[in-house]
Amino acid sequence: MSHSQVSKPATARRSRDLKGDIRIPGDKSISHRSFMFGGLASGETRISGLLEGEDILATGKAMQAMGAQIRKEGDIWIINGTGNGCLLESETPLDFGNAGTGVRLTMGLVGSYDMKTSFLGDASLTSRPMARVLNPLREMGVQVEAAEGDRLPLTLHGPRTANPIRYRVPMASAQVKSAVLLAGLNTPGVTTVIEPIMTRDHTEKMLQGFGADLSVETDKDGVRHIHIAGQGKLTGQTIDVPGDPSSTAFPLVAALITEGSDLIIRNVLMNPTRTGLITTLQEMGAQIDILDPRLAGGEDVADLRVRSSKLTGITVPVDRAPSMIDEYPVLAIAAAFAEGETIMDGLDELRVKESDRLAAVARGLEANGVDCTEGEMSLTVRGNPSGKGFGGGTVATHLDHRIAMSFLVLGLASEKPVTVDDATMIATSFPEFMDLMRNLGADITVAEAK
Ligand code: S3P
Repeated sequence: MSHSQVSKPATARRSRDLKGDIRIPGDKSISHRSFMFGGLASGETRISGLLEGEDILATGKAMQAMGAQIRKEGDIWIINGTGNGCLLESETPLDFGNAGTGVRLTMGLVGSYDMKTSFLGDASLTSRPMARVLNPLREMGVQVEAAEGDRLPLTLHGPRTANPIRYRVPMASAQVKSAVLLAGLNTPGVTTVIEPIMTRDHTEKMLQGFGADLSVETDKDGVRHIHIAGQGKLTGQTIDVPGDPSSTAFPLVAALITEGSDLIIRNVLMNPTRTGLITTLQEMGAQIDILDPRLAGGEDVADLRVRSSKLTGITVPVDRAPSMIDEYPVLAIAAAFAEGETIMDGLDELRVKESDRLAAVARGLEANGVDCTEGEMSLTVRGNPSGKGFGGGTVATHLDHRIAMSFLVLGLASEKPVTVDDATMIATSFPEFMDLMRNLGADITVAEAK
């Protein structure tokens, strides 16, 4: 599943009147968890709206390698799971390609099994820190053989019986929280995760939906204590995956910064742990109407109407970062077209995403004439609503899908074209991106492979 090495540059040119009525592919976080929990639960899980990106397909293959049966009938994915506690040892290493969520959650899931599991990834994933997940797993009794600095490739040897732990998550990370909770599924007794800063809560909500004995208490300081009783039964569910707000961010910002645009985006996940970008853009003056807010499968969803807008720079509250962590690259693009300065701080986690996103965004902006300052954990962008002088540069994407999509959006409102050195990684999270953007009227061309 590791990504092919053939890169394909792509170029975006100034466009206007982006118009259409679109549906965004399924949420990546919920899609990973649907394959994992469906693969683990007893009986049948049926999933509609699954994101069929490379990252998710890697998770599906890993679950198959450990005994889950997965097939597709029409648009529905049907899974027959192994039953909780009954995953099988994979005969081959699990290759997660570019997928941090896939690999980190699966390490948690299998870490508490008395078996050996090896993990691989592409150059981006191999450079990312895994200690954040391996350390709590070690406390539970897992032995780790890893490359230097706890990086991939690595092998886990689970204990005969894992220890339940109380673990305070040291950074705002839903992946770390989830890995410990998933390890708790096959551990006797109660595993507790303490989460001082709330992150996306899909693991908690979905595990409860599958029948896990999981409870959450929030103390007087707002700290969440999540308890999971291990070795219970999980039962297959029917899941309709809502549209990914992180993917929505690209056409949404494109419509805001291009003249004459008016877009409807349907069925977008509006879980409050994921809507920080919409709040921020609204504070900057964006015309984003939230239409028909409703509950679907236990999640908030809505349709969005987005129109070209005059934006003004703001200081983004630091405590909003977890609810928009994947959206800072494209927020920086919106900020480039805002009047005045946009200050984004508390961005330390951006340094350990698919690339060092803080550096990648700053270099990409600089290469295209946008005035910005990179701090250790912050980014300040000084905007120019006309886009005059912007563009003309080539952006290094460092195997990062969100860097590629963000800078293609920059090109849609810049005076000169913007080129990204490789658009192939977009397939990890949003394979429909090019067609969808072109259908709205965006001028994006992909070069022949070289
Ligand atoms: C995710 C959690 C976030 C996010 C990633 C998806 C998840 O990572 O960046 O794209 O599905 O749990 P961290 O937990 O490292 O912040």
